[in-house]
Amino acid sequence: MWIGVITIFPELVQAALNEGVVGRAIRSGSICLELINPRDFAQDSAKTIDDRPFGGGPGMVMMAEPLADCVRHARTLASNKGTTTVMLSPQGETFDQSMARKLSEIDSLLLIAGRYEGVDERFVERYVDREVSIGDYVLSGGELPALVIIDAVGRLISGTLSNPESVGTESYSDGLLDYPQFTRPRCFEGSSVPDVLLSGDHKAIETWRHNEAIKRTWERRPDLLLSRRWTESEQAVVRALHQTDKMSDEPTV
Ligand code: ADE
Repeated sequence: MWIGVITIFPELVQAALNEGVVGRAIRSGSICLELINPRDFAQDSAKTIDDRPFGGGPGMVMMAEPLADCVRHARTLASNKGTTTVMLSPQGETFDQSMARKLSEIDSLLLIAGRYEGVDERFVERYVDREVSIGDYVLSGGELPALVIIDAVGRLISGTLSNPESVGTESYSDGLLDYPQFTRPRCFEGSSVPDVLLSGDHKAIETWRHNEAIKRTWERRPDLLLSRRWTESEQAVVRALHQTDKMSDEPTV
């Protein structure tokens, strides 16, 4: 997959992508990363890429022309199957695992990390396919959100993870949070690992883990369950929780 990032801080983005799973994917060629600096496309010797907002107000706005030149250049570097251009912005649709999955299936992705008070809207209208936010808070720029997206998308690209099975069993893969994990020692500060995990009974372990995932999701993120039809096992686990009086709310089953 080709991933381009338009950023005035390419060193920051590069440094974060030198390590870990995505760093390895870049080195192995599964991900082709290109960092493009809009300052290189500024139209004056001072390399100006921002200006005061028309109509007044605080802060500076990123100018349309250097960004447009930057995108045109980036698209010549990407593979020729068409590039999806995403601008990181608190005004965008919220990023989630399902969007990560869809983005991991495309051939080339161009991420635009804005800075300052915003970006000239005429550039956004003409060059951006979608605006994406990583959550309801405001950061000082789009670099960290771009890195979040690259990490979440990059690890889903085939050949990236040493154990691809983990993608199918982790949080959100089936709309549930992850089940609790344990490793050695068997007893830590007086607390033992659940017996079932030591039983060697794979079916029982799978059922226990699935039930724990449902319990956790109901207790911590009921919105994930309430937004869809429940499976029979989900209904059974939530009913059992209700009966043992661990819940405060009435389940809608
Ligand atoms: N830029 C600033 N804040 C952001 C956010 N929450 N998501 C995406 N881009 C941003």
